[in-house]
Amino acid sequence: MSTDAIVLLKEDHKAIKAAFKRFEEAGKNAHATKGRLVDKIIELLTVHTYIENEVMYPEVCGLLPTLEDDILESYEEHHVADLLAAELAALSPEAERFDPKAAVLIENVTRHIDEEERELFPRVREALGRKQLSEIGERLLEAKRKAPDSPAQPSALKKTVDAIIK
Ligand SMILES: [Fe+2]
Ligand SMILES: [Fe+2]
Repeated sequence: MSTDAIVLLKEDHKAIKAAFKRFEEAGKNAHATKGRLVDKIIELLTVHTYIENEVMYPEVCGLLPTLEDDILESYEEHHVADLLAAELAALSPEAERFDPKAAVLIENVTRHIDEEERELFPRVREALGRKQLSEIGERLLEAKRKAPDSPAQPSALKKTVDAIIK
């Protein structure tokens, strides 16, 4: 199994996009299915955001200072997704705002993922060696083991609150 950081993060992206697609294909009144899919989406996003915030972004910032502005913007995009995910987690799938809020979350995250894959990751791959990327990948896997999987967990919620009041 590859431990290349970019390969690992792209695998996460693929799983997230697959869950988005299933949500979008679920029928308008498939409330139970969409509720379960949103739980899954939130779990995948919480873990992925955590490992990028804790490992990938600080590593990239430290090693490639020219990418700092892009990384700062990415943190903000994660923050918006965290807020939407936390709000969505509190809504019943039958609520009027559930589908539109899910649609906005999906739109935002899809754009963010595409930017990472088209702009950020290629620049990181070009600048860092295979060995460095695989070391970062090992740390991503380690972070994954201790990542929260729901924004209701104290550590994830604390991050959201910290981000709001900073
Ligand atoms: Fe990201
Ligand atoms: Fe990502």
